[in-house]
Amino acid sequence: METKICKIDQDSIERAKQILFSSGVVAIPTETVYGLGAIGTDSIAVQKIFEIKGRPSDNPLIAHVHKDYDITKLVHIEQDYVYDLIKEYTPGPLTMVFNSKNVVCEQAVCGGKTLAIRIPSHQGCQDLLRAIDQPIVAPSANLSKHTSPVTAEHVYNDLKGKIELILDGGKCSGGIESTVLDCTEKIPRILRAGLITKEMIEKTCGSCEIAMHKQTDKVRSPGVKYKHYRPKCQTALYEYEQIEQVINRYDEEERLGNNPYIMCADELAKYFTGKNLLLLGKTDREIASNLYDKLLDGEKKAGIIIAIAMPDEKGINLGIMNRMKKSCG
Ligand code: TXA
Ligand code: MG
Repeated sequence: METKICKIDQDSIERAKQILFSSGVVAIPTETVYGLGAIGTDSIAVQKIFEIKGRPSDNPLIAHVHKDYDITKLVHIEQDYVYDLIKEYTPGPLTMVFNSKNVVCEQAVCGGKTLAIRIPSHQGCQDLLRAIDQPIVAPSANLSKHTSPVTAEHVYNDLKGKIELILDGGKCSGGIESTVLDCTEKIPRILRAGLITKEMIEKTCGSCEIAMHKQTDKVRSPGVKYKHYRPKCQTALYEYEQIEQVINRYDEEERLGNNPYIMCADELAKYFTGKNLLLLGKTDREIASNLYDKLLDGEKKAGIIIAIAMPDEKGINLGIMNRMKKSCG
């Protein structure tokens, strides 16, 4: 199968619509990462997503809808804080988990009773969702376990020959996947950290918990238990303070002929003059937005990526560190 990359516009959305309505799948841009979409009520199309990605069959998909879609067609809204969250943070990088009305097929939710809903803000994605006017279920458009794609080219590198169409909406501005929030209980609970932070949710809802995902936990977001986001080269992860150790490791890897690259925030570059660097940016938003891009750039040129952690796990750094630990730890 030939895989085409088309700029997202009226013509390519029309083509995507034809593919989706004939049980096909299409890669779509969002403001977080690229998704691999299928119509959520079409079990044949949904099955294709799992096959193409090599995704474990117990990891449910997020349903994406446009901003005027009535989500009560799909789920039960049982908590009042949900209306405030919708008002404050949608469209945007927030996914909310509700009890499902079972309109979206059971293959998409892996037989579970809940459904995760997201209203992306990316304009091209909104246009597509509006043209379809049905829930589109979409995981990130990468092969399972690999780093999530933030450009159409990243999607192509993973899925060429396996899908017909990639809608190109430019580089994703967010750069890490949406915050997944369990909205079925009195206190909202973060299942996967992202750009909508615990602090932001607390401000809106009064309180917010973070799921610990311990071995003993009843894991509510199955995706978090898998190895994830890994680039194809070797990796190592050091604490923010371990400058000395990073330099030693770099020199050692270089001696071994392993072509090391240090991945860190711009502010640390001054300690590593003359060394190969993958610079992530200055602010937490910039760093989130560049993380996968730099990992995917790094896997092409580095033998080993030596990553340096953020100084803390507050705010957006929690989401960044969650991805860094899984990709490089
Ligand atoms: O930003 C994003 O969320 C991207 C874009 C494409 O929207 N999508 C994405 O999908 O990251 P995926 O499939 O790679 O990750 C979905 C996460 C997984 O950790 C999954 O376990 C969790 O959301 N999830 C999905 N449905 C759920 C549900 N009903 N209950 C709990 N967790 C759920
Ligand atoms: Mg994913």
